[in-house]
Amino acid sequence: MDVHDLITQARQAQNHAVSPYSNFQVGAALLDADGNIHLGCNIENSSYGLSMCAERVALFKAISEGHTEFKAIAIAGPGTLPCPPCGACRQVMWDLAGDIRVIIVSGSEYEETKLSNLLPNAFGSNFLNQK
Ligand code: THU
Repeated sequence: MDVHDLITQARQAQNHAVSPYSNFQVGAALLDADGNIHLGCNIENSSYGLSMCAERVALFKAISEGHTEFKAIAIAGPGTLPCPPCGACRQVMWDLAGDIRVIIVSGSEYEETKLSNLLPNAFGSNFLNQK
């Protein structure tokens, strides 16, 4: 995996953010198991709660096109601020992508971790339908 390419693509995805309310542009680049990269940006709504994060846009796009196995996601926020995924995105990624590598971009640097480190003791489908 080329981390720098994933980061570059996350940065490019930021350009498509629709964020007139927060003015906080986020881009995500999601690498699937076949090597394809799926991009997402945050898309806000005048009814604020209907806004969607970049990570979920990338993931839902990929799944809707038949990609179901993932390796990594790079997430870029404005300026030099790191943009760790929000709690909702952590849960959704855990359910749909599993324990992927998470690359949090800060300016020209980045930190890498695993989703399991960002969402310890996660709820998941394994807790459903227990006897
Ligand atoms: N946002 C994301 O897209 N991803 C994150 O990981 C954190 C927050 C968006 C949601 C909202 O449009 C804006 O950033 C400010 O919260």
